[in-house]
Amino acid sequence: MNRVWIADLAHHIGQRVTVHGWVHQKRSSGKIAFIQLRDGSGFVQGVLSVDDVGPDVLALASTLTQETSVIVQGVVRKDDRAKTGVELALESIEVVHASQDYPVTPKEHGVDFLMDHRHLWIRAPRQRAILKIRAEIIKAIRSFLDGDGFTQVDPPILTPSSCEGTTNLFQTTYFDEEAFLTQSGQLYMEAAAMALGRVYSFGPTFRAEKSKTRRHLIEFWMIEPEMAFVTHEESLVIQEQLIAAIVAHVLDHCATELSVLGRDTTRLASVVAPFPRMTYDEAIAFLQSRGHEIAWGEDFGAPHETELAAEFDRPVFIERYPASFKAFYMLPDPARPEVVMCADLLAPEGYGEIIGGSQRIDDPELLESRFREHDLSMDAYSWYLDLRKFGSVPHSGFGLGLERTVAWICGLDHVRETIAFPRLLYRLYP
Ligand code: 4AD
Ligand code: MG
Repeated sequence: MNRVWIADLAHHIGQRVTVHGWVHQKRSSGKIAFIQLRDGSGFVQGVLSVDDVGPDVLALASTLTQETSVIVQGVVRKDDRAKTGVELALESIEVVHASQDYPVTPKEHGVDFLMDHRHLWIRAPRQRAILKIRAEIIKAIRSFLDGDGFTQVDPPILTPSSCEGTTNLFQTTYFDEEAFLTQSGQLYMEAAAMALGRVYSFGPTFRAEKSKTRRHLIEFWMIEPEMAFVTHEESLVIQEQLIAAIVAHVLDHCATELSVLGRDTTRLASVVAPFPRMTYDEAIAFLQSRGHEIAWGEDFGAPHETELAAEFDRPVFIERYPASFKAFYMLPDPARPEVVMCADLLAPEGYGEIIGGSQRIDDPELLESRFREHDLSMDAYSWYLDLRKFGSVPHSGFGLGLERTVAWICGLDHVRETIAFPRLLYRLYP
């Protein structure tokens, strides 16, 4: 048995092959049947005609239902009309398991229904394409960072204290102690950067955010590079190179999937470094000039971010936000301490912030005073303060949100489709 993946069929033209997979769709008339098969690697049309296979096989083919699992044999034929360039002239079909009343049919379903059936919905061509692109984005990120001298370090998931503020922590218990699911591995990555120079983490993070928006997940994956002896400006250059490398990789490797999604790839092709930069001050002035009622000192909402990003054909850095609403660890601008050396990277086309990053405070006294201002207990963070006592250096880092990046590159309306089993506000099933 010459077992072949559907994705590789084009290399087997003229050969008799076996495919293991599922029936996606079927059309049959008296004399001929067309069966769309999928095996995870791709989709192919199988054709049977009564003249080739006889009435029994054709009769079996006409009973096949959606998502029935099958093992089929046939000859690979070139077919220029097919997206994959081939079709299968089927000779035999073995039913492994007959699927009855598969709920996710080709008709339109509501979002709640699809989310309740997410375990089945991921078999759909669109969902498969998204999960494939997500996996390629992950590959591109790792390959860029691994190739640029970064070492992966894994921070803990269970933590004793917060990184990004205390309002959205998931609380749990750790034997007799209080503990929290990590919001960000950053503080640990700062320790790791002092040990290994350039590091990154890649893992799930958790935020009990009561926001029901198309950009928010409760559990999302974050890539957090942290770099010793790297300034805010130098960090921005690494960020734009990383994003450009991800987009280039997806354009190179995911043409089929992008076309399944109907993604306008010309919008992606313009994503090359360098990216435009705007200060928070400039952004506020711009928004005011467009009639937004926003004052200096206020954070942006989604409509503000969308309007700012719409000015550019590639992601834009908004730099130097007011210290008042940013995290305690961000380095104040020495010339203007009311703003911090940070930047958010806003994706084009209204996808919002995909990266948040900053240079970190490296002076122990300044850091201690920030702990006091933010009401953070010295005890909990004393290890973090140690990093400023024993060979402190200027250092910077950032967090790239994987799901928002996937949503943007795939051109999706909502982050719920960017991960196999999304955790959303009030949705923990399946
Ligand atoms: O801007 P954030 O909160 O930054 C940090 O956590 C820093 N400690 C990162 C660092 O400097 N090491 O989050 C970083 C990114 C955001 O830009 C966004 O893309 C994503 O994480 N993100 C979310 N994605 C989906 N759902 C949510 N609820 C998200 N919250 C943040
Ligand atoms: Mg942020």
